[in-house]
Amino acid sequence: MGAQPVCCKLEGLALAVQPPSHAQLSRLMTTSNNSNVSISATTLGTPLSPHATKVMLLGSGELGKEVLIALQRLGVETIATDRYENAPGQQVAHHARTITMSDPAQLKALIERERPHLVVPEIEAIATPMLEELEAAGVVRVVPTARAARLTMDREGIRRLAAETLGLPTSPYVFCDSLAELQAAIDDKIGYPCIVKPVMSSSGKGQSKIAGPADVKTAWDHAMAGGRVSHGRIIVEGFIDFDYEITQLTVRAMGANGQIETHFCEPIGHVQVNGDYVESWQPHPMRPAALQKSRDISKAVTDNLGVGFDGQPSGMGLYGVELFVKGDEVWFSEVSPRPHDTGMVTLCTQWQNEFELHARAILGLPVNTALKSPGASAVIYGGVDAKGIVFDGVAQALAVPNTDIRLFGKPESFVKRRMGVALAFDADVELARSRAKQAAALVKPRVAGER
Ligand SMILES: Nc1ncnc2c1ncn2[C@@H]1O[C@H](COP(=O)(O)OP(=O)(O)O)[C@@H](O)[C@H]1O
Ligand SMILES: [Mg+2]
Repeated sequence: MGAQPVCCKLEGLALAVQPPSHAQLSRLMTTSNNSNVSISATTLGTPLSPHATKVMLLGSGELGKEVLIALQRLGVETIATDRYENAPGQQVAHHARTITMSDPAQLKALIERERPHLVVPEIEAIATPMLEELEAAGVVRVVPTARAARLTMDREGIRRLAAETLGLPTSPYVFCDSLAELQAAIDDKIGYPCIVKPVMSSSGKGQSKIAGPADVKTAWDHAMAGGRVSHGRIIVEGFIDFDYEITQLTVRAMGANGQIETHFCEPIGHVQVNGDYVESWQPHPMRPAALQKSRDISKAVTDNLGVGFDGQPSGMGLYGVELFVKGDEVWFSEVSPRPHDTGMVTLCTQWQNEFELHARAILGLPVNTALKSPGASAVIYGGVDAKGIVFDGVAQALAVPNTDIRLFGKPESFVKRRMGVALAFDADVELARSRAKQAAALVKPRVAGER
């Protein structure tokens, strides 16, 4: 790098009808140490015009829907991709596309046809090696980077990076491909209690806690049934008896001096039931030493994930770093290189919620992570297995002071599918938590036509 002038992000992108060249991208993606460089502000286009700034979401669930809304507000032309039609984000985007995102050929064909300036993965199950190929070829820029998407698409890439490359504290772990290997890993290294998870799964699917030898086979079978891709690999982790767990939302955004800066949101506390988030709140009170360690770990992980394919700092966007805390001790658990489900609480607690922060950061715009009010979120589950369900009690829920709700608009409900979320702000987190839970409980999903 050095004396090359650096122009910031999307100016070149927005003006290009065709995707930028490899050379252009390299220049746009890097920063300079030269303090005299002139930084031009991001230029955004008009949607549905030849100069539109186009962003494609890969995965358009409830989190993607909010990112899309934030992008729409900036006049970005949006393409919402999912594996099924009428996914929540597809309902608010300019264009809806339905493909199998884990199929490299389908993914490549779609990106080459649509020619977005940015591709924003919202889920893990994507053909990420293809994204790396397209990014390296200069076809598209992947948010935060294609490498970050690949490393976090399963538990192995990110765990080895955090523990073995970066030397961060994590639970003890072993990866196993058979029941015999699992038993040996527990006997030789991990001990009881421990947790088994498929390497590719989310929201607690296929995950279980093993209390003693009698549970090992059940946990293995559960993981085999619950993994997203049935290649039979699991991670077994020593159980961390934490006091509490947090999500540290961490934003890499372009600073006024043309350098990428790291910003932290207030810590988010949450409760997980069987590995799935049911409640979150912000700010979670923390001792200063634990907060500092959490931020140091988050910075180390996001700095690394933010390295672009050319080895230069890149990777702007919001990351959700999951951490376990006991006293002043902090363990890294995992990270999403995108908005986090527990971060939905920021819809009512921050001046710029996590979706707006992501949208701004990826476009090269400045961010503000300040807290507006303490608040909480509580999940609204489907409660029934049915398509096109209806929700009673919305008025009663919204009559709870200081609350709001989001119903995601998912075409099909399952008993344990997240269909909405209740939000509450208040003078303190405890009051907000009780109001959010109260509002969530008042919303009653049911099969249409049945009482
Ligand atoms: N090693 C562990 N020790 C204690 N609790 C754990 C451990 N691993 C996971 N958990 C619990 O399970 C939850 C989900 O695990 P996580 O690894 O985040 O899976 P997912 O990718 O499905 O979110 C965590 O938020 C935490 O509550
Ligand atoms: Mg998690």
